[in-house]
Amino acid sequence: MNDILASVDGDLVAPGRPELGGLVHWGGGGGRPIHRWFRYREGFSPELIDELALGRRILDPFCGSGSIMVGAARQGRSSVGIDVNPLAAFVARVKVSPLAAADVSDVTAFLRRYEGELPPAEPWPVPGLRIAGKVFEPDVLDELLRLRTVIEERAASKEQRHFLLLAWLAILQDVGSYFKEGNGIKYRNRQRRTGGYVARPDGRWQLERFGADQRAFVRAAFTGQLAAMLDDVPAWQHGNWGAQRVIEGNSLDVLGQLERRSFDSVLFSPPYANRFDYFESQKVELWFGGFVDSYGELAALRKRSLRSHLGAALDRPVERRPELDALIGLIDPDCYAARQRVGALLRGYFSDMAAVLRHCRRVLVPDGRCCVVVGNSAYGGVIIPTDSLVARVGLEAGFGQASVVPVRHLTVAPQQRRSLQGLEAWMRESIVVLA
Ligand SMILES: C[S@@+](CC[C@H](N)C(=O)[O-])C[C@H]1O[C@@H](n2cnc3c(N)ncnc32)[C@H](O)[C@@H]1O
Repeated sequence: MNDILASVDGDLVAPGRPELGGLVHWGGGGGRPIHRWFRYREGFSPELIDELALGRRILDPFCGSGSIMVGAARQGRSSVGIDVNPLAAFVARVKVSPLAAADVSDVTAFLRRYEGELPPAEPWPVPGLRIAGKVFEPDVLDELLRLRTVIEERAASKEQRHFLLLAWLAILQDVGSYFKEGNGIKYRNRQRRTGGYVARPDGRWQLERFGADQRAFVRAAFTGQLAAMLDDVPAWQHGNWGAQRVIEGNSLDVLGQLERRSFDSVLFSPPYANRFDYFESQKVELWFGGFVDSYGELAALRKRSLRSHLGAALDRPVERRPELDALIGLIDPDCYAARQRVGALLRGYFSDMAAVLRHCRRVLVPDGRCCVVVGNSAYGGVIIPTDSLVARVGLEAGFGQASVVPVRHLTVAPQQRRSLQGLEAWMRESIVVLA
C-alpha cells in the first residue's frame, strides 16, 4: 500500500502549515460574534479568507453554516454559498441577513416579555420524528413546543420569526436528552466509559443535567441564546451584508447555473469520504425546524448530497480511476466496510468531486484559486488519501497547478490504530490548493 500512497502523493505534497490546523474545525471560529449563533460541528474558521489570501468574490459550494460568508461580509467582500441541507442554508441565511432596527426592537421586547411570563400558548404539533419523545424529557418537549407556538404567533415579520427560530433551533441539543457524536446522535442516559457505554440511573442524570425545574432550564437556555444573538447585532453594522447570496440546493446542479469567470476564489470543505451522514446527526433539528416532514423527504435529501455516506445515490454512474481502484482492491472484501458498499461510495465521491471541480474551474477567473479543506480516511487498514486524490482530480478538471498542504494530523478510531501502524503520516487533514 505504501507504494500506491507514495505514488498518489507524488510531488504534490507541500511543507505542512500546522499553524492553520486550528482553523479547519469549528473551534477555530465558532465562538465569534454571529458565528456562535448555531454550533455547526463541521464548520471551519473565516480566518482562512486571510490566511489563504482569497479574492473579493468568493464561492463556497458547500457553505454549511455560512462561516465564509459571514467572514466575507465583515470584510466587505461578496460571496455565494450553496448547501443541500435546508437547515444549513437557513442558518447561513439568517446570519447574513441583518435585521431592520424595528425588528431588533421587537425581538428585544419579545425577549423581555418571555423572561417575565410563561408562554400561554398551546404546544406546537409534535414533529413526525419517531424518536421525538425520546430525545426530550416530557416537560422539556412541552415547554419547547409552547415556545415555538409563541414564536410563530407573535413574530411580526418573517425576518423576526427566522431570527427567533434560529435561537430556538440552536438550543435543542443543549436542552435535549441527546447530543451529536460520531455518525449520529447518542443519548445522555448513557455514559461513555472505557470499554463501552453504561446506563445512568434514571431520574439522577436528568436532575444533574436540567436541575429540578426542566421548564425553567429551557427558558434560561432560550433567553441566554437570544440575548447573545442580540448582543451580536451591532456586528451587522459594518460590512457588505447585501453582497452575500445563499442558495439551497445540490452543488452538482446549482454550479452549472453560475456565470463563467464570476469568482476570484473558491474555498470549501466538502463532507469527507468517511460515511458520516449529516442528515443523521442533524435529524432532530431538521424535523423540529420543519425542514423535513416525512421520512421520504429525509431520504431524498440524503440521495441529493455528495456521495460521502451510504444513504447517498450510490448507483449513479462513476468515472474510474486506476489508483483508487488499486486502493479499493486492497480493502479486505469480508470486512464490514467492504460489505457496506464502500467501494461504490469512494468511486462516487471522487466522481462528484471531479464534477464540482470542473464547475469551479469554469466559474473562476483565469488566475483564480480554489482551496479545498479535506481529510483522509481509512477503511479496513487501507488509507484513502483524499487530499492527493482531490489534487489529481483538480488537475484533470483543468487546473494547471495543485498542491496539498497538510495542516493537521487526524486521530483514528482505536480499533483501526493497529492496522494503520506505519501509515500515520497519511492520516492528515489538508488544504488542497488548485490554481
Ligand atoms: C464540512 S461541511 C461545510 C461546513 C462549512 N464550511 C461551515 O463552516 O459551516 C460540508 C457541507 O456540505 C453540504 N453538502 C453535502 N452534499 C452537498 C451537495 N451535493 N451540494 C451542496 N452541499 C452539500 C453538507 O450539507 C454540509 O453542510
